[in-house]
Amino acid sequence: MTQHLTIVDHPLVQHKLSLMREKETSTAGFRQLLREISLLLAYEVTRELPLTTKVIETPLCEMDAPVLAGRKLALVSILRAGNGLLDGMLDLIPSARVGFVGLYRDEETLKPVQYYCKLPGDLGKRLVIAVDPMLATGNSSAAAIDLMKEAGATDIRFLCLLAAPEGVARMKEAHPDVPIVTAALDEKLNEKGYIVPGLGDAGDRMFGTK
Ligand code: URA
Repeated sequence: MTQHLTIVDHPLVQHKLSLMREKETSTAGFRQLLREISLLLAYEVTRELPLTTKVIETPLCEMDAPVLAGRKLALVSILRAGNGLLDGMLDLIPSARVGFVGLYRDEETLKPVQYYCKLPGDLGKRLVIAVDPMLATGNSSAAAIDLMKEAGATDIRFLCLLAAPEGVARMKEAHPDVPIVTAALDEKLNEKGYIVPGLGDAGDRMFGTK
């Protein structure tokens, strides 16, 4: 992937995203849409996975058939909202290894603080796809990527649903080697760090909390 930012403008993605943004969409509806959209985003973020061929037999003849070249994948969910994207991704890539990174924002310093980190052992040998629906300030995403790099990851992509220009700029500064795939680039962050127009708090909307 050569571009730093890819916006997936497929009509199905855009339609489902609009339904997710609507404030009247129920928790169950939001979760279902997120699962469906994550399949479509997974398709895009894995578009350039290398292929090889293997000889197979169809009912008619032998053929040299394309198969994935054995490149191993790791999905890393940035808690807690990342889990919503993770579920759909695992439907499509069931053999992927999975890691979790938990960060919260210190109210005084406003810096991300790690409270959980469990990553697959051989990250350096894998294509790592970090998932978090909302790329807002980019501070926690950049910190999560730091942890993945400390654990040996060298080939990382960041998959989100919505990005704010501020978050994209922060990620570009901290991790210019990490391509970002998103369904939309929104207008801005508000004073509370929410993406505008956005969809609200992704975790609250998917888990029904407030
Ligand atoms: N996290 C969210 O869940 N929503 C935002 O708008 C920003 C960060």
